[in-house]
Formats: sequence, structure tokens, C-alpha cells
Amino acid sequence: MADLTTKYLGMTLKNPFIVSSSSLTNSVEKIQRCEEAGAGAVVLKSLFEEQIYEEKIRAADDGLAAAYHTEAAEYIHQMSMNFGPEDYLGLIRGAKKLVKIPVIASLNCIAHEWWKDYALRIQKAGADALELNISFLIHDPEDASEEIEERVLKIVRAVAADLKIPVAVKIGPYYTNTARLVKKLQLKGAAGVVLFNRFYQVDIDTDTMELKPGYLLTPREEVTLALRWIALLAGRTKLSIAGSGGVYSGEDAVKYLLAGADAVQVCSALYKNRIEHLKTMTAEMNVWMKKKGFASIDDFRGKLAQGKKSDPESWERQQYIKALVGLE
Ligand SMILES: Cc1cc2nc3c(=O)[nH]c(=O)nc-3n(C[C@H](O)[C@H](O)[C@H](O)COP(=O)(O)O)c2cc1C
Repeated sequence: MADLTTKYLGMTLKNPFIVSSSSLTNSVEKIQRCEEAGAGAVVLKSLFEEQIYEEKIRAADDGLAAAYHTEAAEYIHQMSMNFGPEDYLGLIRGAKKLVKIPVIASLNCIAHEWWKDYALRIQKAGADALELNISFLIHDPEDASEEIEERVLKIVRAVAADLKIPVAVKIGPYYTNTARLVKKLQLKGAAGVVLFNRFYQVDIDTDTMELKPGYLLTPREEVTLALRWIALLAGRTKLSIAGSGGVYSGEDAVKYLLAGADAVQVCSALYKNRIEHLKTMTAEMNVWMKKKGFASIDDFRGKLAQGKKSDPESWERQQYIKALVGLE
């Protein structure tokens, strides 16, 4: 059996497969199942910002309530998603008592005001690391790219400043220059980056002519979305990198590692194939490593990273031209 250990956010994982933040990790029992199925680590289901201010609103005056009474907060209230901030800390404590694998807490943030104190409570509850899923819906034509990035950085700075545990930031694929954002995330105190978050998709029902939720799970082909950025960033940033999106097999995970990721996050494949699929993917990775003669992950990680090459842009352009010319 090959050595599958890997370092992520300064922690040693027994293998690179991390169960992503989702309802696969929203109870201690489910987290135990992830460990039994062989996960290297888990990221807990996110606590949403609306859940925090739901609590604060209850304790505050009407002015605050009016200011933060958004549709999303109302939805959370109506759906009785009353898994509040205290329960979340209980989930961390419970998981830490019962599993040995690293437990990474997750916060879904859209503003920086709420999180500083709560992140310290997460640390105190025993979380090994914290992942920030920063996802605001950009729609205002007056919002400049620079300002949007500044909002992300403000959240990271507010949360990471006083924390001892490492902070990873899960970002979406739609920034103009991911490399610059990642560089700034490091300066603001992040220890890692998760590439990429998958945003809620909107679809249209042509019968009712209404909006409806799009397909929730990632299509397998999307594995290529983050590969490019991981290959460009690995070796150019000190941040740990987790590849996320479309990992359905050991081979998919190998692709992320070859590009230079330190770990991979898996979600859709586990919804589709059950949590035990982790065992299959780990076995597939082992078989591939044996076939290629690699004894450890470090033997092949980053072999296809472009970051250290002098001119990654010209390589990319070459591939692009080859692909387009080949199609004609
Ligand atoms: C049902 C479901 C629930 C999710 N909940 C969260 C969440 O609470 N926080 C978060 O950061 N990501 C959440 N995600 C996104 C996943 O963590 C993951 O980033 C995304 O699905 C891409 O990975 P995949 O291609 O392996 O599914 C959720 C995804 C699904 C399908």
C-alpha cells in the first residue's frame, strides 16, 4: 500500500480525500461514517451568516432586526433551520470527541462584521481549522471588481487576525485574476485556498415559466474547471491548495494532485454513490500509484504544475491554439 499521507493547512492527513462541507457532515454520526469510510478529514456543513444574525437579532433591538431582515434570513427562519451557533459549537465538540481525523469548521460569510468573536468560539470548541465559504451574489453594476475582492479580504482579515487555527478560503471561479486574489488572501492571514466553490445554479421551468433551482450536484466534467488555476498557482503560493469540484474517482483526485493540489474535496460523488465510495476512490489512487511506481503522494504532486515554469502563459496559449485548430 502506497503512502497516501499529505499535508494540508499544516495538518497531516492520512490521505488527500476530504469530505466537503455539506449535509454529509452535519451530524456527529455522519462524521463518524466519513471516518469509517476512510476520509482524510471532514469539513463540517457551513454555518450561514443568516443563522448568526438570526440569533443576534433575537437578542437585539428592532433597528438591527429591520436592518438585517433579508429574504435569506426569513427563509432560514421559516425553514426552521434553527441549527444555531450554539448547536454548531456542540457539533464541533461532539465530533472532536469521537473521531481522530481533522475536523474543519465552515462559515458561509457575506460580511465581515459577524465573525470575529464566533470564529474564536469555533477555535475554543476544538476545530482543527476553519474554512470560509465567501459567497455573495454580485449583481450591482456599480460594484467594481476591486471593491468586491476587498470585501473578501476584509472578511478573511477579520476572522484570521486573532485565530491560531489555520483558515482556508473557499472561493468561486469567477474572479478576474485568481492569482492576485490568492496572493492577497495569504497577506491577510489565510493558510489555504479551496478551488473552487460551486455556486447555486438557477434554471427555468418552461411549463410554469418560473425560476427553479438548477442541478445541485457537479457534473463530472467540471473537474477541469479548477485544474488550470491549481496548476498555475502551485509552487507560486505558500498557501495549501485543496482541489474541489467534480472528483468522482481516484483518477480525478490524481489529476488535482498532479496539478499541485495538497488535498481534494469530494461532495457530489458521495451523494451519488454513498459515503463508502471514498474507499473505492482511495483504492483506485493506490492502484494508479502502484502502476506508475510512486511510493508516496509527494513523488508525483505538482508534476504538472505550471507555476514554477518561466512562461506558463505561453504554454497555455499553445494548448488553446492546438485545441481550436484541432477542432476545425
Ligand atoms: C447538497 C449540497 C450541500 C452543500 N452545502 C454546502 C455548505 O453548507 N457549505 C459549503 O461551503 N459548500 C456546500 N456545498 C458545496 C460542496 O461543499 C462542494 O464545494 C461542491 O459541491 C463542489 O464539490 P463536488 O463537485 O465534489 O460536489 C454543498 C453542496 C451540495 C451538493
